[in-house]
Amino acid sequence: MTTNFRFLQACRREPTDRTPVWFMRQAGRYMPEYRAIRARHSFLEMVKTPELAAEITLQPLRALPVDATIIYSDILPPLEGMGLRLTYEQGEGPVIHNPLCSLAEIEALAQPDPRETVAYTLDAIRLVKRELAGKLPLIGFCGAPFTLASYAIEGGGSREYRRTKQLMYREPAAWHTLMGKLATLVSDYALAQIAAGADAIQLFDSWAGALAPADYAEFVLPYVQQVVAAIRQRTTDHRTPTTDALQTQSSAANPRSSPPISYFGTDTCGRLGLLRQTGADVLGVDWRVPLDDAWAQIGPGYAIQGNLDPHTLFAPWPVLERRAADILERAAGRPGHIFNLGHGILTETPVEAVARLAEFVSAYSQSTVAR
Ligand code: CP3
Repeated sequence: MTTNFRFLQACRREPTDRTPVWFMRQAGRYMPEYRAIRARHSFLEMVKTPELAAEITLQPLRALPVDATIIYSDILPPLEGMGLRLTYEQGEGPVIHNPLCSLAEIEALAQPDPRETVAYTLDAIRLVKRELAGKLPLIGFCGAPFTLASYAIEGGGSREYRRTKQLMYREPAAWHTLMGKLATLVSDYALAQIAAGADAIQLFDSWAGALAPADYAEFVLPYVQQVVAAIRQRTTDHRTPTTDALQTQSSAANPRSSPPISYFGTDTCGRLGLLRQTGADVLGVDWRVPLDDAWAQIGPGYAIQGNLDPHTLFAPWPVLERRAADILERAAGRPGHIFNLGHGILTETPVEAVARLAEFVSAYSQSTVAR
């Protein structure tokens, strides 16, 4: 039953009645109901309290006609279990207080069991699944190894990734040890989310576009492949009746179908052919490339997610409408397009524009798909 959601069908490149739509960061500060909770709690309190995280996950569903929901969390909390100290500073974003500098520090990192160290998010997933009662699919997510490594090495966000690239070039043994540990963490965490009920997994490699394609191929791609292969292998053939995934309706109805995996990055137009080698089912692209060009480079065997510039949501409606229609025309009703932004919703975005956009995508694509 739950495998028939149009979002999951599109991930598998099956025909749908219309184009599914959801938005990265659809839960967040642009929503007044989110800000009301945020005024009383710190970000990490919200993420680590399953009831709050579940409630925030469901907030956008009441305001927006979207086809999927994404669990409210962040990519960085799983790093705490490795021994990294994480806080979120007002106006600054995430800060890691003991950033990694050396092989010795990387070797000393724990290899945590996310079922213990990120249990709060797994509990939130179970709560959301119960509330959704089979009405919409739930996307679980993880940061991909490179993007996690960049925060762990830089100690926060970065523009140049200087320390990250220096470690990669100067201390390849340290780099590969870190990426190996992160790949294990990410696949274990993704599998735990699937076991808790996530219907799909998105890997956020937001900053992988900072690398030259050759460096991406050598230092990053093998670890993404490792994560994708581990998730797929352990959800396809070797399910044991002890995982709670077996008890979910989707797996009971179709025990051999692996939940789809999306891989998202920004600034990836110079390496779309390489992204194909990740093995992901769905590739997320940003607005720097026209959707049909991206799809032609990626090839027909992949679903594609994107790719409206989130700033377009600040434009007058006729401009927003034209840009959204352009994306749908470029997708031309081919199975496997999931409408999304090219990056997350920005903080000041008007909620009405997001809702109107979701309605427009549904109505317009119904006619495009029918053609
Ligand atoms: O998409 C969703 O609705 C699910 C929730 C989600 C968040 N972060 C919530 C969040 C997801 C999928 C993420 C992923 C994430 N987090 C990424 C990858 C996606 C991307 O945007 O590139 C990255 C790089 C991060 C790291 C991160 N977390 C940054 C840079 C920041 C600060 C930016 C900001 O908006 O303040 C965060 C904090 C964060 N993550 C917030 C939210 C809602 C804001 C926290 C708050 O309420 O103050």
